[in-house]
This record gives sequence, structure tokens and C-alpha cells, in this order.
Amino acid sequence: MRFDSTDSVCIVTGASSGIGRALAERLLQRGAHVVAVARRRERLDQIVTPDAAKVHQVVGDVTDPKTRQQIVQVATQLGRGAVDLLVNNAGSGAIGPFSEANEERLRKVMEVNFFAPVELTRSLLPALAKGRTPVICNISSVLGHRAVPNKSEYCASKFAIHGWSDALRAEISQFGIQVTLVSPSTTRSDFFDSLIDTDSNQASRSVGSWSPEQVADAAMAAIEKRKDEVICSFPGKLLVWVDRFCPPLMNRLLRQS
Ligand SMILES: NC(=O)c1ccc[n+]([C@@H]2O[C@H](COP(=O)([O-])OP(=O)(O)OC[C@H]3O[C@@H](n4cnc5c(N)ncnc54)[C@H](OP(=O)(O)O)[C@@H]3O)[C@@H](O)[C@H]2O)c1
Repeated sequence: MRFDSTDSVCIVTGASSGIGRALAERLLQRGAHVVAVARRRERLDQIVTPDAAKVHQVVGDVTDPKTRQQIVQVATQLGRGAVDLLVNNAGSGAIGPFSEANEERLRKVMEVNFFAPVELTRSLLPALAKGRTPVICNISSVLGHRAVPNKSEYCASKFAIHGWSDALRAEISQFGIQVTLVSPSTTRSDFFDSLIDTDSNQASRSVGSWSPEQVADAAMAAIEKRKDEVICSFPGKLLVWVDRFCPPLMNRLLRQS
């Protein structure tokens, strides 16, 4: 059974920019109610929708349990106890050698990219079990398949979300809930302007480059088909498949990079 957005109750974290915003707009165009979550209210106000009454803002930090409580409250009130789609998209990264970083940076990255989505999901499982062809869509990264140097904290957080998604998918299929893992490669969003504890001279190497709209289209298609997984862009797929079939080659290439 396909996921049908019409009049569904959907939650999108990180809806104020990039992939999350593009995905929220696609859901709204298809007639969904969207609980749009982010810290910047003024950016949430800019979401384009054919029906303003269908956007329900929650302004706050997803790492704060009070924000997550508010998300659950707003969504379950809208759906009379049921939620159809949760998109765990809010995320951030850090660039630079592990040896020059600290525990604080690691914990900040893990809090937003791993613990926040996991705990939000935990509190929404009962409502999702009552949803219509329910889906949990986790926006991960190709770096959750193959880790690269200078992004150790980010890669660890995305490997964690990947592993947890695979385990959860098998556990909760009995409740009719699908877990869809979306792994974008480099995306031309605000992501690199809001890195955690990273000095602005640290450059990121690109692995293929898509617009947030392209990633949102791929994620939307995967949600509608209730797919297990989608990897975005040809270079992103190449990175993952070369690593899968010939890890020594990838290890050698990355040591030389
Ligand atoms: N850009 C890339 O190259 C790339 C590649 C692969 C995967 N991804 C993943 O794609 C997802 C979306 O990233 P993007 O590229 O669209 O970046 P983006 O444009 O920077 O968007 C990130 C979103 O997350 C929100 N956010 C960040 N920290 C938050 C927090 N603590 N609480 C609530 N909201 C928070 C931001 O909103 P506020 O600042 O308003 O709170 C913003 O809406 C992330 O999970 C990222 O890891 C990105």
C-alpha cells in the first residue's frame, strides 16, 4: 500500500531550510497537514503552502525534551491520536580532524543527529501505530554508509542512525510502520554555514551535488512507495557501492586524499 499524503498528519523536523523545507512544501502541495519544526520562526514563516491552515509550527530545539513533547502534543491533537509520517531531518555537522576536536563537539553532533530523532520516534511510536500506512523517514547521509576523514563525528552519527533504522524497521513492521532511510550526498543547502564548533576555514569535499529540491523529490518518492532505502546522486551511489564491493580500494583512496 502506498503512502497517501492527502489529509495525512506529518511531522518534518528541520523544516526551516534545505531538504526539510522542500519536503514540507511537497507534503503541503499534496494536501497534508505538516507539523513544521525548527528553531528559527522567521524561516518557518517562509514555507510556501497552498493552505496556510495546514502548517503547524513548533519552534524549538529538537535536542530539548520539552520541544519533543510539544511536537507529540501538536501532532496527536491534529490526528486525534494518530500520526501518519515522521520525517527526522533536522541535523548538523562538524568538519576537522578528530585529534583537534573535543568531547563537547562529538556530544553536540550526536545529540542533534542521533539522540533527538531516536527519542522523538520513541515517543511517537504509539501514535504512528494508529496512522494510515505510517512511515518514519530518517534523513541520513551517504557518509552513514562510508565514513570519510575530517568528519568523524558526523559520520559516526549517521552510521548510528543507519544502524538504528535497520533494526527498528525489522522490529516495528509487525505494527505496519515502515522505516525509510534516505541517504543524500552533498546537497546545496545552508548546511555548511551552520556547522557545529567548526572554524570557517575548514572546507568540505563534495561527493556529487544535488539541490535540496532534488533530494526532497527522491525522499517523497521513497515515502510514497514505502521503500526501505534510497541513496541520492550517482557519485553518492558510486561511493557506497565501491566501498561495499571493494573496501580496500576505498580505504586506499581515502588515505591518499
Ligand atoms: N547538505 C548536505 O550536504 C547533506 C548531505 C547529506 C545529508 N544531509 C542531511 O540532511 C539533513 C538536512 O540538512 P540540510 O542540508 O537541509 O541542511 P540545512 O539547510 O542546514 O537544514 C538543517 C535544518 O535542521 C534544523 N536544525 C538544525 N539543528 C536543529 C536543532 N537542534 N533543533 C531543531 N532544528 C534544527 C535547521 O533549522 P534551525 O536552524 O531553524 O533550527 C534547518 O531547518 C540533515 O540531517 C543533514 O545531515 C545533508
